[in-house]
Amino acid sequence: MEIKTALLNITKTQNSKIDQVDFSNLPFGKTFSDHMMYCDFVDGEWQQPQIVPYGPMQFDPSTKVFHYGQAVFEGMKAFKDEDDQVWLFRPERNFERINKSSKRLAIPEFPKEYFMESLKTLLTLDHEWVKKGQGNSLYIRPFVIATENGVAAAPSTSYRFMIITCPARAYYDVPIRVLFSEKYSRAANGGVGFAKAAGNYGAQFFPTNIAKSKGYEQIIWTDARTHEYLEEAGTMNMFFRINDKIITAPVSDRILNGVTRDSVIQLAKDNNIEVEVAPVEVKRIKEAAKKGELLEIFGTGTAATIAQVLGFEHGGFVHELPKLKNPYGGFFKKKLQDIQYNRAEDIHGWRFGGY
Ligand code: COI
Repeated sequence: MEIKTALLNITKTQNSKIDQVDFSNLPFGKTFSDHMMYCDFVDGEWQQPQIVPYGPMQFDPSTKVFHYGQAVFEGMKAFKDEDDQVWLFRPERNFERINKSSKRLAIPEFPKEYFMESLKTLLTLDHEWVKKGQGNSLYIRPFVIATENGVAAAPSTSYRFMIITCPARAYYDVPIRVLFSEKYSRAANGGVGFAKAAGNYGAQFFPTNIAKSKGYEQIIWTDARTHEYLEEAGTMNMFFRINDKIITAPVSDRILNGVTRDSVIQLAKDNNIEVEVAPVEVKRIKEAAKKGELLEIFGTGTAATIAQVLGFEHGGFVHELPKLKNPYGGFFKKKLQDIQYNRAEDIHGWRFGGY
């Protein structure tokens, strides 16, 4: 069935897959809901967004995204409250960031009304794919790819903006161990570290595999010039708790401006927890660890929410963090989720929707 609205063209699925899904066993990002959105940029403008049944697409082998990685993406989540209403968390931040990422990758910016209306339509059509209950969410993946055919190394003249969604629980279901990078780098000054450029993630896979073979789930990247300062983990921004203060690196052209990071800083301020936003020297963290003053490390991200770190390694120095009864990481996670699931007052206006 095709429905035309002023903004979107909607083709509903005739064969929902929802009955085939085991919602109690969902590996992250593998099962996709019934509908997706795509919108093409051709002849210098974004065309009408199309909502269609989820499915494969066909591209010419010379399509530019395959050759030059001209692609950016976002990560968002929707949550269902006890009254069956579905809420987004700070979606304007993701909208602004995908356009910032696009600009850096020479991709045309996307219109806000198309973005917001598509989210609303997808969440309305696939309402049953958002499950109630603590830990359940619908992960939303907007992305843009260069679609022009041809292998000339120049920006594409055509693009496809898409939104796909998948039911999800936390990205890391158990606490993780991390390795502080000594050799490899994620981002450099003047580069694309602040953008959610697809290539930022692909470039991390090889060093992360090495870390994984040593028992470390993630690498905390250090600055490319000196490797003396801790930056981010690729899937997460990082927080270090020394005594009762939390410290996190400032965002820069190398570090992603995480929505969860920003929300945790605000929640810390609201709850009189001291926050220092400053370059985080590896030396300072190791010294605090040796003195027993390093009480926690946790990562923040949309997919990860808040991931508690059990321990780290740097240059042969291995440290296990203390097991706290009431870690700040857990405190912030609860505060965030209470807002996301519409269980708490939302004094900053972060919740959006109610679809
Ligand atoms: C997210 O947290 O949504 C991200 O984009 C990280 C991703 C690589 C899982």
